[in-house]
Amino acid sequence: MEEIFQKYDKAVPRYTSYPPATAFNTAFTKDEFVKHIIRSNTDEPSGVSIYIHIPFCTQRCHFCGCNTALYQSENVVRRYVDCVKKEIREVAQLIDKRRPVTQISWGGGTPNSIDFGYIRQIMDTLREEFTFAPYAEIAMECSPAYLDYADVDSLSEMGFNRVSLGIQDFHKEVLDAINRQGPKHPVEDMLAYLRAKGFKGLNIDLVYGLPLQTIESFAENLSIAAAMKPDRIATFSYAHIPWFNPAQKLMEKHRFPEPAEKLKMLVSAINYFSQNGYDVIGMDHFALADDELTIAKRTGNLHRNFQGYNTRKTTGQVYAFGASGISQLNSCFAQNVKSFDQYMNKIEQEGWAIERGYALSSDEMLIRDTINEIMCNGYIHFTGMAGKYHLNKDDFFKITRFSPDKIEDMLQDGLVELTDTSLSVTATGMLVVRNVAVAFDPAFVPGLNQYSRTI
Ligand SMILES: C[S@@+](CC[C@H](N)C(=O)[O-])C[C@H]1O[C@@H](n2cnc3c(N)ncnc32)[C@H](O)[C@@H]1O
Ligand code: SF4
Repeated sequence: MEEIFQKYDKAVPRYTSYPPATAFNTAFTKDEFVKHIIRSNTDEPSGVSIYIHIPFCTQRCHFCGCNTALYQSENVVRRYVDCVKKEIREVAQLIDKRRPVTQISWGGGTPNSIDFGYIRQIMDTLREEFTFAPYAEIAMECSPAYLDYADVDSLSEMGFNRVSLGIQDFHKEVLDAINRQGPKHPVEDMLAYLRAKGFKGLNIDLVYGLPLQTIESFAENLSIAAAMKPDRIATFSYAHIPWFNPAQKLMEKHRFPEPAEKLKMLVSAINYFSQNGYDVIGMDHFALADDELTIAKRTGNLHRNFQGYNTRKTTGQVYAFGASGISQLNSCFAQNVKSFDQYMNKIEQEGWAIERGYALSSDEMLIRDTINEIMCNGYIHFTGMAGKYHLNKDDFFKITRFSPDKIEDMLQDGLVELTDTSLSVTATGMLVVRNVAVAFDPAFVPGLNQYSRTI
């Protein structure tokens, strides 16, 4: 497995979105976004996914690459929450009330660092403005450093049924090196409590490549995590982006794992979790055999957006609220201004805080769909995909500029199988699936952009 990773460790896009967020531009205005929201009422999928961004954190972890801000005064949090409610009302009046809300994701920052009264206010606003599907997934990314059992009770009362816990590492010296507080309660007990309260799809996040981690200490993380049997485990590769978060430089006094060690950590995660009851969902995501993501993957119904993996049943077009939130409609992407201060000013003055976005052409929609299918389900039927867009197979090849020579190496290495009608990615191929997806991306020019490597 290590040789495959080494051979295919190329600088290619991550394809969290197509086109990637680097293509978003400021020529995309609020007026254009309004037109796309109205159009989204008749586009597929008809479900409404909602993302709420709470940027605040009580403590700033030095490794963090998310859009966060240190916890502000109560007044600032109240003002921010009022702005989120105002933004929800503004957008909701353009959305057909018959469309069901199938998914709500709260991310950050640390949504559970603010008073739960504010979370309730936002949830009440959403219930007033939208129609919730009875099976809606309502999820929050929580830091276990501040999560109490009483908070779980409140989340459950408000209708939350999914929680993700940011663990990163189980060792105190690593947490100290990244300036992070450990969990308030034993993670195992918290998971059991969440389960007893009916929460499903429980996830924990781990990160490899953090200061002071060793291959051995990371292996301990894997066995501790698997023994707790969370439904899902994510193992993210530490992204070193000091130009975005200068605090990462503060960790440079510590020893970081070398790239070769990071590769071994990734391979050990894949091996260990596969041998201990987990299926590989994406290169860095694992789920138990009976988890809905595993079932969706097996039946070709897995989907992915900026919030992570989900199933086709709950996938909706995403309407994002809060600083830096990215709306993901069938026909466009639209991102709010990143600074929470500017976000509040813009919402108070204009009711909107769109800073940049991207309108997709019909060709780009087909390419996005193709890349998503390959990244999530590892399979593409050429005429089937073309037919969705009222096109034929020749059009499909013309638009994606796919040709077999682009994947010749991968065919020889047994990573993909190609017939006249379809392409499938093998289990090993899924580990380097970005390299397959790139063969269907006509905009990709090798070496033109600085993309992160696979590991
Ligand atoms: C918004 S945070 C999670 C919620 C909560 N604030 C917490 O820390 O527990 C989302 C996740 O992104 C991942 N993450 C943050 N910074 C990262 C980085 N520089 N490299 C890789 N993963 C990172 C972490 O695993 C983290 O749990
Ligand atoms: S890892 Fe979580 S708690 Fe730490 S700074 Fe990032 S968002 Fe905040």
